[in-house]
Amino acid sequence: MKTVSVISQKGGAGKTTMALHLAVASALSGRNTAVIDLDPQASAANWADRRETEVPVVLSAHASRLRREVTRVAIIGGEMLYLDTAPHSDGSALEAARLSDLVLIPCRPAILDLDALNNSLDFIRTAHKPICVVLNAIASVGHDADQAVEALQGLGVEICPVRLGNRVAFARSLITGQVAQEFDPKGKATAEMERLHQFVQSRVGKSGR
Ligand SMILES: Nc1ncnc2c1ncn2[C@@H]1O[C@H](COP(=O)(O)OP(=O)(O)OP(=O)(O)O)[C@@H](O)[C@H]1O
Ligand SMILES: [Mg+2]
Repeated sequence: MKTVSVISQKGGAGKTTMALHLAVASALSGRNTAVIDLDPQASAANWADRRETEVPVVLSAHASRLRREVTRVAIIGGEMLYLDTAPHSDGSALEAARLSDLVLIPCRPAILDLDALNNSLDFIRTAHKPICVVLNAIASVGHDADQAVEALQGLGVEICPVRLGNRVAFARSLITGQVAQEFDPKGKATAEMERLHQFVQSRVGKSGR
């Protein structure tokens, strides 16, 4: 099983959105996929309650139980596991990073988000796992994303070649327990998420099969 955590100290960076969309992409590709929601706000778990199917499986866990829950998902045949974390540098996000094959950091291309990224990086790096920043919610006009890449270059962190636009389908689909791929299969959000999913799979290897 491969485990990918989505971590950022910045609230609203897009952690839950990214984890759920990638988990559905993984399930649609035929992999047994689960999400563990570590955030007391339980946004991912609430999304699953609104969903009409049990795929992907979404579980809630406390940081103190995470290691056991990850083992349990692997034992029952999980192939891909996404960990959605809370927006604080508490122990739960660090434990998630330690248990991961890859850490994704969603980051909006805005100055406050870029500033906060430094703090997130400092503590995630202590887990010694591969880290990749994914620029999220990029405006369709302007050069915010390119400027963000310039600002990030000095940090010595990998920047994902796939960027996600600011797209209604990413937000609206979650309201009805879907993701963009189900809500608007031919839309740009779907195409972007498919590319991001391919990138993640290429980074973690061919899943735990
Ligand atoms: N690429 C995007 N395009 C449009 N809306 C987005 C995008 N990414 C996230 N959003 C919206 O931004 C808001 C915050 O996203 P989300 O809840 O995923 O962030 P988060 O990092 O999980 O937040 P928290 O820190 O509170 O857990 C949500 O309303 C979500 O629908
Ligand atoms: Mg969240």
